[in-house]
Amino acid sequence: MTATATTTAAATVSGAGTADPTATATVDPTADLTGADPIDDPGAHRVLTGDRPTGPLHLGHYFGTLRNRVRLQDRGVEMFVLVADYQVITDRDIADRLAEHTENLVLDYLAAGLDPDRATVFAHSAVPALNQLLLPFLSLVSVAELSRNPTVKDEIAHSSQAAVNGLMFTYPVHQAADILFCKADLVPVGQDQLPHLEVARTVARRFNERYPHADGSAVFPRPRALLSEAPMLLGTDGGKMSKSRGNAVALGASEDETARIIRGARTDADRRITYDPAGRPEVSGLVLLAALCQDRAPEAIAEEIGDGGAAALKRTVTESVNEYFRPLRARRAELAADRGHLRQVLRTGAERANAIADATLAEVREVMGAI
Ligand code: TRP
Repeated sequence: MTATATTTAAATVSGAGTADPTATATVDPTADLTGADPIDDPGAHRVLTGDRPTGPLHLGHYFGTLRNRVRLQDRGVEMFVLVADYQVITDRDIADRLAEHTENLVLDYLAAGLDPDRATVFAHSAVPALNQLLLPFLSLVSVAELSRNPTVKDEIAHSSQAAVNGLMFTYPVHQAADILFCKADLVPVGQDQLPHLEVARTVARRFNERYPHADGSAVFPRPRALLSEAPMLLGTDGGKMSKSRGNAVALGASEDETARIIRGARTDADRRITYDPAGRPEVSGLVLLAALCQDRAPEAIAEEIGDGGAAALKRTVTESVNEYFRPLRARRAELAADRGHLRQVLRTGAERANAIADATLAEVREVMGAI
């Protein structure tokens, strides 16, 4: 998941018609468009998405994807949210404290409004039949295809590992198993995940061609990306907002921490505050953050601050963030006190996911001739 997923030329299929930049969902134009609007016809879809448990979620995640997930859930779309713990061990340097990160991810999900009675929240390592799908799926892709994946290449370029392990090249196929085990047809992701979604689509297509049911019908749907027009929220250093760069406000940050991080944000020397994302990315990122929290247009926020300069801007942003997130943070603090509940949510989610994965694996084995 990227915190800074950008708007694309993808076809707009749905929108709440508000000024809220995250309200509009777009579908990957390379995908098979069925014409169905996922939000107008919520019962017709199964949505799966997920995150790597590498650290606390931040405001970029919240405005970029989390609250869209909650919206989809609240509109009655069937949701699966997966903690991709096996994906973290592609790079062992960051794979510490996995169990703690997993529980904290669930904590952020619940605080943001995901409801475990309606959404299935689980870790993919707890679903053996899902993992077994990796074997037949790996046989459907070439080594050349695996080596060309631009997101994998980028991760290798930024990795501190001396040697790249095999999972680094094959995890996109495992991600196809994440999506296909429950036959999800919509996958909310950021731009960087589109190559992986293409792998899932290729695997589904090749599997269906090679192993149809006796009556000719297909085992898997071809999943489509649901790209959210995530706002361009930058980190406080002007770079991409990221858990690892220390330039982000965590969802669960205290009000004081929030104030401190925003006080340290980079701005520029122009006293007059304007909203100009291309020309003044740092100032505009802050204006946008206040605008998202206040549910107003960024231009109006900039206008209001006017000649107040960076100090007034930062005050406004801090107050807006702290006010908007106060209820979420209060809920988060309550939930954090009960680790047993977080583990129970994961257990219940895994039970549901296992039942589905077992059925899919049985179907897969049948069409493959009980391999
Ligand atoms: N690769 C995703 C990320 O880095 C996480 C992920 C794992 C995922 N499995 C998924 C996302 C399935 C969508 C669907 O954020």
